Amino acid sequence: MWLAAAAPSLARRLLFLGPPPPPLLLLLLSRSSRCRRRLHSLGLAAMPEKRPFERLPADVCPINYSLCLKPDLLDFTFEGKLEASAQVRQATNQIVMNCADIDIITASYVPEGDEVPRPGIEPRLLSVKARSPNHWTARESPTDCVFRCFDNRKQFSDNFEIHATGFNYQNEDEKVTLSFPSTLQPGTGTLKIDFVGELNDKMKGFYRSKYTTPSGEVRYAAVTQFEATDARRAFPCWDEPAIKATFDISLVVPKDRVALSNMNVIDRKPYPDDENVVEVKFARTPVMSTYLVAFVVGEYDFVETRSKDGVCVRVYTPVGKAEQGKFALEVAAKTLPFYKDYFNVPYPLPKIDLIAIADFAAGAMENWGLVTYRETALLIDPKNSCSSSRQWVALVVGHELAHQWFGNLVTMEWWTHLWLNEGFASWIEYLCVDHCFPEYDIWTQFVSADYTRAQELDALDNSHPIEVSVGHPSEVDEIFDAISYSKGASVIRMLHDYIGDKDFKKGMNMYLTKFQQKNAATEDLWESLENASGKPIAAVMNTWTKQMGFPLIYVEAEQIEDDRLLRLSQRKFCASGPYVGEDCPQWMVPITISTSEDSSHAKMKILMDKPEMNVVLKDVKPDQWVKLNLGTVGFYRTQYSSAMLESLLPGIRDLSLPPVDRLGLQNDLFSLARAGIISTVEVLKVMEAFVNEPNYTVWSDLSCNLGILSTLLSHTDFYEEIQEFVKDVFSPIGERLGWDPKPGEGHLDALLRGLVLGKLGKAGHKATLEEARRRFKDHVEGKQILSADLRSPVYLTVLKHGDGTTLDIMLKLHKQADMQEEKNRIERVLGATLSPELIQKVLTFALSEEVRPQDTVSVIGGVAGGSKHGRKAAWKFIKDNWEELYNRYQGGFLISRLIKLSVEGFAVDKMAGEVKAFFESHPAPSAERTIQQCCENILLNAAWLKRDAESIHQYLLQRKASPPTA
Ligand code: BES
Ligand code: ZN
Repeated sequence: MWLAAAAPSLARRLLFLGPPPPPLLLLLLSRSSRCRRRLHSLGLAAMPEKRPFERLPADVCPINYSLCLKPDLLDFTFEGKLEASAQVRQATNQIVMNCADIDIITASYVPEGDEVPRPGIEPRLLSVKARSPNHWTARESPTDCVFRCFDNRKQFSDNFEIHATGFNYQNEDEKVTLSFPSTLQPGTGTLKIDFVGELNDKMKGFYRSKYTTPSGEVRYAAVTQFEATDARRAFPCWDEPAIKATFDISLVVPKDRVALSNMNVIDRKPYPDDENVVEVKFARTPVMSTYLVAFVVGEYDFVETRSKDGVCVRVYTPVGKAEQGKFALEVAAKTLPFYKDYFNVPYPLPKIDLIAIADFAAGAMENWGLVTYRETALLIDPKNSCSSSRQWVALVVGHELAHQWFGNLVTMEWWTHLWLNEGFASWIEYLCVDHCFPEYDIWTQFVSADYTRAQELDALDNSHPIEVSVGHPSEVDEIFDAISYSKGASVIRMLHDYIGDKDFKKGMNMYLTKFQQKNAATEDLWESLENASGKPIAAVMNTWTKQMGFPLIYVEAEQIEDDRLLRLSQRKFCASGPYVGEDCPQWMVPITISTSEDSSHAKMKILMDKPEMNVVLKDVKPDQWVKLNLGTVGFYRTQYSSAMLESLLPGIRDLSLPPVDRLGLQNDLFSLARAGIISTVEVLKVMEAFVNEPNYTVWSDLSCNLGILSTLLSHTDFYEEIQEFVKDVFSPIGERLGWDPKPGEGHLDALLRGLVLGKLGKAGHKATLEEARRRFKDHVEGKQILSADLRSPVYLTVLKHGDGTTLDIMLKLHKQADMQEEKNRIERVLGATLSPELIQKVLTFALSEEVRPQDTVSVIGGVAGGSKHGRKAAWKFIKDNWEELYNRYQGGFLISRLIKLSVEGFAVDKMAGEVKAFFESHPAPSAERTIQQCCENILLNAAWLKRDAESIHQYLLQRKASPPTA
């Protein structure tokens, strides 16, 4: 029924002939089942048991938090005082809140209005201090001095104050139960808690971040990172996204420090008895979730502007680097009005600050009104930043500002719907960058960066549905992955295309207006979009968000007079081959079909809602090609019959297929080869057809796949032959581009040049290597500084083909670098070094003081991905230093990234067992799924190698003997 509603004119053309299953699919089922059995025999297929978890009871909830914090930037502690006005919904004598790594000193509850304590109980006698950490009481009692900031707040009669008699910390659950000697009656009241905590160095909760002043002195800032479940490390709270409240925040800080929070400052006054300290008070926030609260105390400069829609925007930078905030400031000032228009909802706060934090685990965090970033995701230096950094800053700013509406104003009801936040922001960041920088051709880059990445992960048996039930914090950490982000963004892109921009926008506005200041679930978004578009959104989208994976659409064609009949069938695509078994999941797949007559417009759009479907395309001449998935928008892979594929390939060589379609076709073929559905040699031949390719993103995706293949073949003794292949594929474009920018070139040319030279240099292309060495020498000697865009490829090339001296020079450049971007650039290529001693030196460097804790991961990952020896050495290093690494990130998502980067390149069955065994004795709860995925990938690599290594070798030898002519 909805088929007709979706596309009435198209529905009439559909023929439901029900073809037999394509023979190739049947053939492959046995192979796929073998691999799955192998996973089972290693015990890798099933996920471990879920940890017990309960959400907070709903009997008491917060209305407003008055929170005053006094961080000590020298001894890394903080003192806190909370006065939360709360509503007791059901009589109770205990309050359960979240609390972790915090010591509560006193807690009491003061009922408001005329509620009185139960008769027979003498409140004064009940006052008990359950705990009193000595570092607090030694100096002064909290109520005496530290918290005078609350003096002017509403006073309650002391008689009515019910002091908690016990604080029962449930450390595992990160909760505390406050027990009261009398029943708290339904109504409102104030919960008062005095507490102390540590400014930790784990980049979560309220933590310290190290920086060096322009004069060289090491100091610390106090900053926050609360998402997903770490606000509870800064103050006792109801730390769940649906338990919203307003916040009145005050910070007691040294008077020469910048103090920031979500809202604007409303008062700043001297702190009694200490002339070096001030109390800074911020305006009340809107109703919001705890994970979005933020505060920063440190030394910063800023640049400022007012956006067209009247919001005060500031970018805070390290002292002396305000200039580096200008690019992000411009992007933010353009982005705010863009979102205001798109959502038709104004930004609700008077200001927004974007601040660069030196030690920062994620890329950036969308705290309402105070967005925190890694330095490399915010700062741009006109001379020393490369084009890809500029693009990254634009995307990250676009992403975090989108959350100000989608996430902050309307918040997911529970972490199960995290994808709503992250998938949506990861989609709209591209829309925003496309608006601000059309020259980036950013949507093509989406396909290579997000869409294909998501498909790679989602083809695994150990993937998970977009909507996944989560409870315990380690399970929540685990879903900040490519499924929530990249698959989430990809299915929204597909949905946007299916609905059309006008109705999509209308639906977004309905959703944001209806749920503003509240919480919503996935189905709420579908309902709004369904109302706006009249299309069956929930029915379609449930097939994409509630089940994992995606389909492989097999298509074959038959010419019937002037028409083309297409037979389509869908089956779940698995990395080990098509799905085997009875109950194959099905999707409702919006499919577009184009022909060579007009390669950039869909000739037909259908919604495939069955396992098999036939379609007749009218007036398609026998010599025309037909292609599925115009723009690579539909979240599926396509397998063409040999005849159809044959007819498409010339479109790669003569560029008559649009870039994003060339990219998608190549990527599909590559993954089909990896899954054993076609041979890898077939894909190598297709790759050779890209000789005339001008498009950066197409090259980037091809390069990425060749990188995967190189890593695989590093397990063989013909690694050098694949390097020859890489050189052959990349040298024509390398020659066309040369080393120096030509007049009129733009952003994408700069990206392409860096990519191609890096690839050629790494593969040992002689001319590239020589020129890289020459330019590196001039750079180091200060004769001619390398342009920022050429640095990564040159560093990589000289290191890979260099010696201990080259490594020492790189480490010196690292030390001298003033910008974190330059330090990261160097850190990421260090793993290219080849000799075992130098590799060891790089690994030791990764854990040294020279590398920021969040960047250790990319140094070790770089070693693992850099060479065959590096892979083994990195794994050994992780095992040997496990305790330190685990402790450094306290679980968290960085540990997952480290594991993934370091073990995924193995291609020997027994390594899957070894990895599994290691993590059984060294548990990393938040990385459990990642570990399963890595083991699955190792087995897939091993199977791929066994299957195709010999034929690849033969093909490469034969090619060498008689090189193909272009
Ligand atoms: N909300 C996240 C930050 C975050 C990530 C918190 C992981 C907790 C765990 C933020 O909006 C985000 O998605 N940041 C990205 C950058 C973005 C451009 C994809 C990140 O940190 O990688
Ligand atoms: Zn995000």
